[in-house]
Amino acid sequence: MIWKGVIEAYRPFLPVTPTTPVVTLLEGNTPLIFSPRLSAKVGRDCKVHIKYEGLNPTGSFKDRGMTVALSLAVERGARHVICASTGNTSASAAAYAARAGIRCVVLLPFGKVSKGKLAQALMYGAKCVTVEGNFDDALRLVREIGKDKTFAIMNSINPDRIEGQKTAAFEIIETLGEAPDFHFLPVGNAGNITACWRGYCEWHAAGRSKKRPRMVGFEAAGAAPIVHDAVVEKPSTVATAIQIGNPASWKGAVEARDASNGLIGAVTDQEILAAQSWLASHEGIFVEPASAASIAGLLKCVESEGRPAESILLAPGSSIVCTVTGHGLKDPDTAIANSGEAIPCGPTVAAVLKIIGK
Ligand code: F0G
Repeated sequence: MIWKGVIEAYRPFLPVTPTTPVVTLLEGNTPLIFSPRLSAKVGRDCKVHIKYEGLNPTGSFKDRGMTVALSLAVERGARHVICASTGNTSASAAAYAARAGIRCVVLLPFGKVSKGKLAQALMYGAKCVTVEGNFDDALRLVREIGKDKTFAIMNSINPDRIEGQKTAAFEIIETLGEAPDFHFLPVGNAGNITACWRGYCEWHAAGRSKKRPRMVGFEAAGAAPIVHDAVVEKPSTVATAIQIGNPASWKGAVEARDASNGLIGAVTDQEILAAQSWLASHEGIFVEPASAASIAGLLKCVESEGRPAESILLAPGSSIVCTVTGHGLKDPDTAIANSGEAIPCGPTVAAVLKIIGK
C-alpha cells in the first residue's frame, strides 16, 4: 500500500469528514526499530523497540497532530494559525501552514529554542516572535490571542492535535501485532503521553489489541512539575524541548499514568545527555536531548529496580517501546558540546595514522 499520511491511514478513528481538506506531508509510518543493545542492557529476555519519530517530515512527532489540526483549521476557515513552542511545534505548524497556504505566527521563549528548529520556522515562512520568559509564558499569550477566532491555536490545547498524535500507538500495535507491555516517552507539555494512551485505549476497546501498556513518562529533573505535583516557576534543563513548568495536559498525563498503573519520573541532564550519546553510538539512532529522556528513564528503571523512586518492575520477557520524539539534527550545538571530542588535525598520512593509533 502506498502511504498517504495519518489521516488517510486512520480516517475512521479521527475527527475528520469526507469533505475535510487534507493538509499532509505524508507524516507517520515511522520505523519501530528493534534495539539489540538496549534489550541486552535491560536483560531478562526483554525486547526493546524504538519508535523513531524524528523521521517525520519536520523531524518530530508533532507532524501527526499537525496534519489533523491544520486540516480542520482550514475547514473551519482559519486565516492564521498561532502557537507557542519550545521549537518542534513551531517547526511543524509552520510547515503545515505553508502547505495549506495560510499564515503562521510562532511565539518562542527567548534564547531557548535550538538552532535547527529556529531555522525550520524561519524557512517555512512563519512570523517568529520571541517572548521574555519561558514556554509557559508564551502559551499564556497564545491563549489570549486565540480568543480572536480568526486565529486557530496549534498547541496541544487544541484537541485535534491530541487526536492526530494518538496514531503513534496505532502504528506500534500494527507493527508488533499487539500493544507492548511498557511504553516509555518524554514528557513536556504532556500532550503526547495523553495522546498515546488514548490511542491504546481506543484500539483496545475496538478489539485490535488484547492489552494496554503501562505508560512510563519522564520529565527533566529541572522541569518536573508532575513528579513534584507543583508548578515549576523557572524550569531549567539542557533538553529545551521539555523545559516546561506548567504542562497544559497535566491532567491527561496523570490519568494515563494512574489508569495504566504506570509511572512519571525524572531524569537529570547528565542522564539525558549520556543516553543521547549512548543511543547514537551504540544503535545508530541520533535523537535530540529531550527525546533521550525516554531512554534515560528506561536505564534508570533498570538500575534503580527495587528502590522506590524510579522503580517499575520490568518482568522477564517484557515488550518495551521507547518513543524518541525528535531528530538529533534539531540541536547540533548541544550534540557537539556533549561529544566532548576535540577534533585533531591530521595533515599527513603519518599524522592520521598516529591520531587513530595505527
Ligand atoms: N520531545 C520533543 C522533541 C518535544 O519537542 C516535546 C514537546 C516533547 C518531547 C514533549 O512532548 O509536550 O507532548 O509532552 N515539545 C513542544 C514544542 C512543547 O513546543 O515543540 P509533550
